[in-house]
Amino acid sequence: MKKFVWMISLLTALSASLVNAAGGYKIELEPAQNNLQDQDSLQRGAVHFANYCMACHSVKYMRYNRVARDLGWTDEEVLAKMAYGQNKVVDIIQTRMLPETGLAVLGVEPPDLSLMARLKGTDYIYTFLRSYYEDDKGNWNNHALPGTSMPNVLESLQRQMSEEEFAQTTRDIANFMEYVGEPAQLKRLDLGWKVIAFLLFLLLLTYLLKREYWRDIKH
Ligand code: HEC
Repeated sequence: MKKFVWMISLLTALSASLVNAAGGYKIELEPAQNNLQDQDSLQRGAVHFANYCMACHSVKYMRYNRVARDLGWTDEEVLAKMAYGQNKVVDIIQTRMLPETGLAVLGVEPPDLSLMARLKGTDYIYTFLRSYYEDDKGNWNNHALPGTSMPNVLESLQRQMSEEEFAQTTRDIANFMEYVGEPAQLKRLDLGWKVIAFLLFLLLLTYLLKREYWRDIKH
């Protein structure tokens, strides 16, 4: 038993240090405090993404019908909310921008965001969206990505909203980005506790069985 406890604490310590080692950003990241099981938040995030990000970014590993199925929308709803009725549900979520335009107007091609949350972390996306500031010359810059060529696309929203509302909006977008990075997470979270409950039940059974086997043996 002692050994078991010792092993568990070692594993916990190890995984915690691995998570910490994944950081390495120059600025302190704000925790997004998003929740993948909050379906309303994911739906809001998807709509904001369509309205404020898809002008430049795509998520080419996702199709509209997958988003619909995972976020609790019908096929018609997902098209109405995210594609202004312009796409088919089997279509990949593509940016509305032509490839040459990004390069010509912004100087870089805006990256596909399918795996961005996996690459940089949900907290990073949340922080990045909230780190725009006006420099001395009145130009927008970003503390998280200095000199970025991405404009401050949420500026008007931020001006209209209270601080809490803007925090929620950026949290919803980060939440949607995390979901898009690993859609299977939603199912896994749901399955996870059932598996744990089953394993605990199995542990109990094996323990009782062990007691039964050793009952008549002196040890
Ligand atoms: C006007 C075009 C445009 C829009 C709209 C836009 N982006 Fe971007 N985005 C860019 C460009 C260009 C880059 C590349 C920036 C760079 O490398 O400096 C970028 C980069 C990013 C990155 C990667 C940052 C990094 O550290 O490399 C993220 C994350 C991102 N955008 C998220 C979003 C989200 C979320 C939205 C919607 C709220 C959005 N973008 C809307 C143009 C845009």
